[in-house]
Amino acid sequence: MKNIYKIREDFPILNKKINGTDLVYFDNAATSQTPKQVIQKIVDYYEQYNSNIHRGLHSLSTDATNQYELSRKIIQKHFGIKNNHEVIFTSGTTHGINIVSSGLESQINSSDELIVSEMEHHSNIVPWQILCEKTDAKLKVIPINKEGSLDIDTFKTMLNKNVKFVSINHVSNSLGTINPIEEIIELAHKNNSKVLLDGAQGAAHFKINLSEINVDYYVASAHKLCGPTGVGFLYGKSELLEALPSYQGGGEMISSVTFKKTEYADLPYKFEAGTPNISGVIGFGAAIDYMNDIGFDNIESYEQELLKYATDRLKEISGIKIYGNPGNKISVISFNLSNHHPSDIGSILDQFGIAVRTGQHCTQPVMDYYNIPGTVRVSLSFYNTKSEIDLFIDALEKASNMLG
Ligand code: ALA
Repeated sequence: MKNIYKIREDFPILNKKINGTDLVYFDNAATSQTPKQVIQKIVDYYEQYNSNIHRGLHSLSTDATNQYELSRKIIQKHFGIKNNHEVIFTSGTTHGINIVSSGLESQINSSDELIVSEMEHHSNIVPWQILCEKTDAKLKVIPINKEGSLDIDTFKTMLNKNVKFVSINHVSNSLGTINPIEEIIELAHKNNSKVLLDGAQGAAHFKINLSEINVDYYVASAHKLCGPTGVGFLYGKSELLEALPSYQGGGEMISSVTFKKTEYADLPYKFEAGTPNISGVIGFGAAIDYMNDIGFDNIESYEQELLKYATDRLKEISGIKIYGNPGNKISVISFNLSNHHPSDIGSILDQFGIAVRTGQHCTQPVMDYYNIPGTVRVSLSFYNTKSEIDLFIDALEKASNMLG
């Protein structure tokens, strides 16, 4: 990996002072920071070729269209997607899940079952609950265990001929668990169930080849991968996306409109109604290029080193309880300190310039499982350092003394 201090120079925000001290940004699972290469790409769009795409023959529109479609190719290649038209740009992971869950309404009925897990983000629970409300299908839940892993033996017993769909995250945003997705996909496919993989937390930490794992749908957001907010993508196998009705009607998603009958456009445009987030999509492509330049193998091994260091240092503090100890996890640590409320810890850490997330992390069922109101969550990225972890530990010790 390139020198860590050289990498940090790419992120202007890391020079920021918070309450007079250097920012220590440990909230990367909520959103990652943006390198100047990505910021510049977005600025270039607005300064050099701001224009609508697929609509004009003029030079600016051609440039914008080319850059937008280039991002689709970058994403296709990075995620090992067979066909370019299987990449649908969305506003993010939540949008992608909703396109699929709402589109399945006509294919699901009251005898069907859908499976999610107890460690899903609310955005991979609520859309399926809405689908079940509309169709009377049943939502079943794979339980977790104390280690914060999925109970795969129970999952096996849940599979039966009524299970049409399994929607599961690759990585838990609140515990950091990396789920055994190959096994889950294989078991589901043997049962003739389709699988959606929520890649929101996994995509930033390791490379994934969607053709190899043979998943049916995959969703992710750019802002977790050093890209801008408000943009993401949905991957689906061609035949599945073709069978799914369009999510929104509007311009660009049609091939012909008359009052008698409207014909919809082919993939991917069928799902891209209206003017999209053009600068966001272009920035997304630049972010994937940036991360590939650093190298996902480098990112993965360095983040694992940070995870080990931070976990060991945290364990030195008395009263620390870490939630989830799965064999395989990303650089996310959820913990509580004695019986202090996580938001009290978070507020004190902020006074020392340290940004963490506190609360339920949009995973109330995980908090209910551990019978806690929430946790303090540290989520580390490849641009964090061991000295930042030391600052965090010092601040946490001070917080512990202040709260008594
Ligand atoms: N899903 C994001 C998080 O885990 C917002 O913080």
